[in-house]
Formats: sequence, structure tokens, C-alpha cells
Amino acid sequence: MAERGSEDETGGLLLDTRVIGHRGAAAYAPENTLAGLREARRRGCRWVEIDVRLTRDGVPVLMHDPALDRTTSGRGELGTHDATSVTRLDAGGWFAESFRNEPPPRLEEALELLRELGLKVNLEIKPTTGSARAKADAIGRTLRADRRHREVVRVISSFSEEILESLRELLPEIPRGLLLRRPVGDWPAALRRLRCASVHLWHGMVAPEVIATARREGVKVLAFTVNSPERARELFALGVDAVITDVPDRIEVVAGAQ
Ligand code: G3P
Ligand code: MG
Repeated sequence: MAERGSEDETGGLLLDTRVIGHRGAAAYAPENTLAGLREARRRGCRWVEIDVRLTRDGVPVLMHDPALDRTTSGRGELGTHDATSVTRLDAGGWFAESFRNEPPPRLEEALELLRELGLKVNLEIKPTTGSARAKADAIGRTLRADRRHREVVRVISSFSEEILESLRELLPEIPRGLLLRRPVGDWPAALRRLRCASVHLWHGMVAPEVIATARREGVKVLAFTVNSPERARELFALGVDAVITDVPDRIEVVAGAQ
């Protein structure tokens, strides 16, 4: 195994699930909403993944896209709006009438609900809008506001090495995960440098040699976004530790059988 950071730096990722609901449970409820978190719980999830971005005034909210248009009643870039106006938008009506007026939540509200529901979370910090440092600062402030939040947040992931670097400096005790859509650059060296506890791969990238490399680096392997039970079965057989999925209930059947 390659040399790892101290226990404090890697945090030690306790991955006690094989199935993680994507953006909540994105096939069944509007992504990145409190309704989505409740639906994930109802569908038997123990973990979810959610996307985090900052508003203009630096408040972390749940949102996948840099722009409001696809998933809310708002228009334009999220980063040009303050939190008070963003959290008044409708982030549910686009998905189904029954979810109309479900607002985009602040990260803080989401963490409170996750704790009530007994769910663990993989926070994904999106790269655009604001500096890496500003994002890590804002996440740190939110987590420090209530120490119970830290029990909920099991891993923070990002496609941005810069964000992971800032998180390593500001929140060293929270495990970090590097997201990869393809095997860019010297990703094993990046895992080492950033003291990551996990690598989160686009599922098409998973291959025996990739798993072997991750094992050598001593990191857990998560794969996204896996909505076919057959594909999930293949990935588990290859050695993937957990999959991130829009249909957690369908994948749970396969994961339980492994
Ligand atoms: O964290 C896994 C996955 O969510 C990364 O891609 O675009 O769905 O956030 P995306
Ligand atoms: Mg995501």
C-alpha cells in the first residue's frame, strides 16, 4: 500500500453501505431537495450524495447545475443570487406537480434533516462559483455551527483538486474523495497528495487495473451513476465498494445479494 497520511488527515472513511442515493433519490423525487432526502430514506437508503454550491452571499445550498434554470423556477447563475431569494424558489415543480414549491435547501437544513432521518451523506462540492478557499471556508462554518453535523458527513468529494486541497487544510478530519470522469493525469499521485480516503469513478472507467491501483493506494472505490442492477452486479464483482444511484431501492436488491 502506498504511504497514507496520518489517521487525522485521511479521517478514515467508514463506508458502511454499498448503495448511495444520488442527489437524494433522483429518479423518485426532485434532486437535491429535502423531499428527495425523505424519499431516499423511504426507499431504504442509509447514505445519500448531494451537490453543494455557494450563493452570491456565500451560503452553501443544494444545487447541481451552475444555473438555476433546469431545476428551479429561477433564471440565471446561482452565484448571482443571494440565499434568501434562492431558497424561495420552486425546485420541485419541474419534476412533478406533487412536489411544487419544494425549495432549494441550505446545506444546514439538509444536514439537520439527514440527522433526523438517520442518513449519512457524501457532500459533493461543485467546482464553479467562488474560490476553492471560499467554498471550503463556507462548508467549515456550516459544520462548526453544530458539531452533530460532523456525524452525518462521512465524506466530502469533488472533481476539483483545488477544493480538496483547501478542505484538507481547513477540515482535515473529514475524509476526502476525488471524483474522476476519466483517468486524467497522475490520479494516483493526486490521491496521495490530497490524502484522499476514496476515489469516486464514473462507472465506465471501472476496470480491473483501475481497482488494483486504487487498492494499492489504500482508498475505497465508489462508482457513479449506476441505475442498472446488472451493471451494479458487475461493478461489485470487480471490487467496487459502493455505487451511487438514482434508484437506490433497485440496486439494494443486488447489493444485498453480493
Ligand atoms: O458524486 C457522484 C456524481 O454525483 C458526480 O456527478 O454530475 O451527478 O454530480 P454529478
Ligand atoms: Mg453529484
